[in-house]
Amino acid sequence: MEALIVLLPGDGIGPEVIAGARRVLERVAGRFGHRFDFREEMIGGGAIDAVGEPLPESAIVSCKAADAVLLGAVGGPKWSDPNAKIRPEQGLLELRSTLGVYANIRPVTIYPELAGASPLKPEILAGVDLLVVRELTGGIYFGEKSRDDRSASDLCTYTVEEIERIVRVAARTASKRRGKLCSVDKANVLETSRLWRDVTDRLVASEFPGIELETLLVDAAAMHLLSRPAEFDVIVTENMFGDILTDEASMLAGSLGMLPSASIGDGKAGLYEPIHGSAPDIAGAGLANPCAAIASAAMLLRHSLGLDAEAAAVEKAIADAVGDGARTADIAAEGETPLSTAAMTDEIIRRLS
Ligand code: IPM
Ligand code: MG
Repeated sequence: MEALIVLLPGDGIGPEVIAGARRVLERVAGRFGHRFDFREEMIGGGAIDAVGEPLPESAIVSCKAADAVLLGAVGGPKWSDPNAKIRPEQGLLELRSTLGVYANIRPVTIYPELAGASPLKPEILAGVDLLVVRELTGGIYFGEKSRDDRSASDLCTYTVEEIERIVRVAARTASKRRGKLCSVDKANVLETSRLWRDVTDRLVASEFPGIELETLLVDAAAMHLLSRPAEFDVIVTENMFGDILTDEASMLAGSLGMLPSASIGDGKAGLYEPIHGSAPDIAGAGLANPCAAIASAAMLLRHSLGLDAEAAAVEKAIADAVGDGARTADIAAEGETPLSTAAMTDEIIRRLS
């Protein structure tokens, strides 16, 4: 098949991990007889420096025309003045919103060989296989904001339609897995959460009677994720709670550097990004873990291009490399010599059959 893939390397370690993911995609194209055309565009702090805005028009045009978009990371200390009018993160939020990718899918896969990299006990981690479906284009992230000398406000709004469509994605996903859905809200305090709970209960009962639905308050969910993570299958939640809970869940896998994400909407184009940030402290040093970006490329192959076998081959290559002891610094145990970003990528490519 032929596909146009737009690459948005962004800031910090973004360019390094995206270079690795691109090499993997090129190898997939060669192995499986596809033609992928790549177009690189700017986003984030680098784009602010170059053209004065975090998401230039040309990037928007390219992303809308693409079959899929693969993004590295945005942000860094250079652009993080809280009073700045223009911030790198605005580019990412505008992109998600413009592409209409309201469902952010964040699978948490545990590589058994990395159990030692997690701060949690191995017996708590045994059998963990969960996936968070985070609402991505609504809620407090996108509500009206105001600020004056004495106060500030961020409005959190959800409509019935926004809740229904994300819960449908989550319930459909759960029905292809272990059939368990956990909806996370703060219905004891927030009106938006009470609506979220009503809509979820009604929709799951009427459209997905085979799904086992559990409801948790977000504070309790944060605790249960650490005390009984293996019991979760699919978790669905609003934008802000999903942001926080997925950073927490990444510690189950041992490193933020392992976890990919896919953001999809009703159209075919999707946005794929590692869940980690730009890690400015190690940027440019060749130390970053490319696994999350490469696993995001696998999700791209599956969700936007429909290439299931190719996606599975990439995921197996990552698992095999890790299984054979390939480690970047974030997942290396004491005494192990860590690989560079490029060398880790080579180990994965070598195992891609
Ligand atoms: C994420 C990130 C972003 C978010 C930031 C960079 C705006 O933390 O993708 O989880 O909050 O959504
Ligand atoms: Mg986050």
